[in-house]
Amino acid sequence: MKAYRAAILRFATDRDPGQSAIYESDGLLVLGANAQGREVVQAVGPWHELRARFSDLDVTHWPGRLIAPGFVDLHSHYPQTNVIGSPAEGLLPWLENYTFPEERRFASPDYSTEAAQFFIAELLRQGVTTALTFATSHPASVQAFFAEAQKHHMRLITGLCLMDRHAPAELLNQPSMRGASDATEQSLLASEALIQRWHGVDRLGYAITPRFAPTSSNAQLRGAGELAARHPEVWIQSHVAENHEEIAWARDLFPASDSYLSTYADFGLLRERAIYAHCIHFDDADRALMRDTGAAGAVCPTSNLFLGSGFFDYAGADRVGFQYGLASDVG
Ligand code: GUN
Ligand code: ZN
Repeated sequence: MKAYRAAILRFATDRDPGQSAIYESDGLLVLGANAQGREVVQAVGPWHELRARFSDLDVTHWPGRLIAPGFVDLHSHYPQTNVIGSPAEGLLPWLENYTFPEERRFASPDYSTEAAQFFIAELLRQGVTTALTFATSHPASVQAFFAEAQKHHMRLITGLCLMDRHAPAELLNQPSMRGASDATEQSLLASEALIQRWHGVDRLGYAITPRFAPTSSNAQLRGAGELAARHPEVWIQSHVAENHEEIAWARDLFPASDSYLSTYADFGLLRERAIYAHCIHFDDADRALMRDTGAAGAVCPTSNLFLGSGFFDYAGADRVGFQYGLASDVG
């Protein structure tokens, strides 16, 4: 067994989430193998209460340090580490000038593996042990990422980026799978195959991943919603209401929906385990839709500041009562 004395932050699983944080200014954490040989927490609590029980252990003392559970990054893009900090006048030129050209390189399995290794090493270096991340529209990028994540025993969730229009041709889903009549159908078959291969393997999970409504046809969004209904156990991830130009574009493409967010609801893509990045330019009807469907927002402060997208309205979210968590949105 190993024992560590330091300040400790932890979360009680038997309390309401809002009341669950416990802070020990001088705590003891004892780790040891369980029956399956996995290292687990054997005891945690105030040093003065536990010290006598573990007096035979060598205690590593870290005064002035804080031990915390691994961080959760609720939204990121593993293929975008190479474009971090690229300046642009807003979301759409940033995607066109930097992000799409970089994402094309993920057609290569070797390039994907190299990027996945770097990204996972960076997550661990920052203390992130759980992350929901985009891959690209290439199945190779998803395979490479899951394979690397599995080696590190991390809780990582990703999925094939669904895009069948309004992006460079090399980035649109390709009609390469046998039995698929077109690229849209292929993207849905490939997603299904990746769910079967990876969802629930070790600590990995799959997320159905339409990039955002403007880069999917009605048929692709409909198919994604049907896939989500067949697989309530998997996640859904996308973007919404990040930037005024993006919103105007989405409203133009889906005029029958009540709002940009409603477009996703209309295709069956708002439900529990659906995580929408940004959620900045919402009205109360959108907030209530998030709340009532059980979807959650991923708040991306550094990204929003860098791209000049706007500020998330925490007070509005709390007033109406929808769930949200923090995210880096790397790159
Ligand atoms: N909306 C659609 N794609 C993206 C992306 O890659 N990054 C951000 N921030 N927003 C998006
Ligand atoms: Zn994003």
